[in-house]
Amino acid sequence: MSYFRPNIEAMQGYQPGEQPREQGFIKLNTNENPYPPSPRVLDALRAALTEDLRKYPDPLSQGVREKAAEVYGLRPDQVIVGNGSDDLLAMVCRASAGEGDLIVQPRPTYTLYETLARIQGARLLSVPFEDFARLPNGLVQKGAKVTFVSNPNSPTGTVVTTESLSELADRVDGILVVDEAYVDFADFHSLSLLDRHDNVLVLRSFSKSFSLAGLRIGLGFGYPALIDGLLKVKDSYNLTRLSQAAALAALGDLNYMREMVARVRATREDLSVSLARLGLEVYASQSNFLWARCLRPPARRVYEELKRRKILIRYFNHPGLQDCLRITVGTPEEIEALVRELRSILEEAAMS
Ligand SMILES: Cc1ncc(COP(=O)(O)O)c(C=O)c1O
Repeated sequence: MSYFRPNIEAMQGYQPGEQPREQGFIKLNTNENPYPPSPRVLDALRAALTEDLRKYPDPLSQGVREKAAEVYGLRPDQVIVGNGSDDLLAMVCRASAGEGDLIVQPRPTYTLYETLARIQGARLLSVPFEDFARLPNGLVQKGAKVTFVSNPNSPTGTVVTTESLSELADRVDGILVVDEAYVDFADFHSLSLLDRHDNVLVLRSFSKSFSLAGLRIGLGFGYPALIDGLLKVKDSYNLTRLSQAAALAALGDLNYMREMVARVRATREDLSVSLARLGLEVYASQSNFLWARCLRPPARRVYEELKRRKILIRYFNHPGLQDCLRITVGTPEEIEALVRELRSILEEAAMS
């Protein structure tokens, strides 16, 4: 006997990247920012540590909505704040897709979309990318309630154009979620979609460019009617007082974020060149990680051997992804250590 709905019984839970308890790892597996959050964020957090913590936080994170609207050129009623962008992804599914409804995504992409679809008991259609720079045609499906596109995509780091997203928004039924968790590392963003599409929800995360993965902050942008629907299914107090204080301070110090992003982008280019010199096939990344194909030795062995040497990267055991590795861009020193160990692993394999 099970206490759960059949779809919950049948599904696997989402598998987050490893967060090792043991110290001493170089962690290049969950796309965190290697640099600290803005000092202004840390000051704001200290200032928020008062007896007021006994009171509930603002349920709408109104201060953050207003600041985000100012920063991104929108109105506050076009903004919703999430406990990480994962929270916003869950809200979209909860609000729009019921049992048996259709959710569409390209493949490969962020694996949480699939988990969320399964939780709803929705039907999930995964349309293979043929070319990572182009959206596959099959994404347009009659009756789809939600279509997900991560841009830049994870785990590939690649982007598609704003024009192609706009065409997709015109053609899909239901909501088009444009997940821009990594967009601050890219050359362009697609917020202009909101000028003409009332079915588009653009998502942002503070976990990557703002170095705040530990606080769980995300933003959603869309037409007011779309935002209102999501607000109905939001957890009542989805952001703590501390997270709201940090979000406000982070939005008030964009220059710091941009400086850290510039460093990551510079290291990304160096890493890309180093990996290609080692013979890996590296995809052009607009993100804070690189996706690289490694056939000999098999990618899984490389992942395991690096882990033995206390360097964590990501290996996906999903169909079609087994010969690739995803490597988060760390500091120049971390990347130097990675390249050194990788070279030694490849040389050992070549001799065996
Ligand atoms: C494509 C994508 N979207 C969303 C998220 C979740 O971000 P957050 O930490 O804001 O929940 C991730 C996290 O890795 C991601 O890769």
